[in-house]
Amino acid sequence: MMSDLSTDYPNLPKHLAFIMDGNGRWAKERGLSRTMGHRRGVRAVKNIVKAALKYKIPYLTLYAFSTENFNRPPAEVSFLMKLCTRSMGKYKKFFIKNGIKFLMIGSVDRLPKELQLAIGDLRDATETFSELTLIVAINYGARAEIIDAIRGIVRKKIPESGITWETVADHLHTRGLPDPDMIIRTSGEKRLSNFLLLQAAYAELHFLDTYWPDVDEKTFIEVLREYARRNRRMGIVQR
Ligand code: IPE
Ligand code: IPE
Ligand code: MG
Repeated sequence: MMSDLSTDYPNLPKHLAFIMDGNGRWAKERGLSRTMGHRRGVRAVKNIVKAALKYKIPYLTLYAFSTENFNRPPAEVSFLMKLCTRSMGKYKKFFIKNGIKFLMIGSVDRLPKELQLAIGDLRDATETFSELTLIVAINYGARAEIIDAIRGIVRKKIPESGITWETVADHLHTRGLPDPDMIIRTSGEKRLSNFLLLQAAYAELHFLDTYWPDVDEKTFIEVLREYARRNRRMGIVQR
């Protein structure tokens, strides 16, 4: 019934990026441990990935772990690392079956070896796919990303006069990917928390009160509707 959204909403986004927030509060409200909230968060990830496939949104980015999240209690950090590692193994078949290409942004440096291997394995196993590109931000921070980009540019000795926005964009972790059309944050918080700061230059911002574990296909459809209502001017005067 709802699946042919392209006729209802001609301006579907090409790239949606989610700041998956509220797992802890979701759990707390139910008297559960924060880890339970994170577990249920993985289910919500699957709901959203399925919805992106169904409504043919070609790029989906999910913010899973920020550079600052390493400052959480070690037990929670270690649980999240294990959950990420396990989920990647568990959903590998699902990715292959559905033609999903997996990419990671962020730095693998501080990640446990098992997670580094799981990321590499999933990326290699899915690199030829193009039905949906799923970009997961792990140990990602926009400030660390710009430092990496500057280092890369300096290393190549690119002359000062030759530096354009394209030069910078080509050295970001998101090189080759389109900018997000809309950034959605769940759980009622209204900030970007070091997520895609440069790529967000002209992104629509959308804040939902829903906690991440409660996000489902209905939420996704609402996001598409909200996007269709926005009038993106990109600095240009409209007739
Ligand atoms: C988002 O949920 C998941 C991560 C940041 C890893 P939180 O863990 O931030 O949940 P709240 O914000 O404490 O509710
Ligand atoms: C942002 O959420 C990072 C992710 C969702 C992965 P946080 O819960 O860490 O952000 P703050 O601390 O509320 O800004
Ligand atoms: Mg949070």
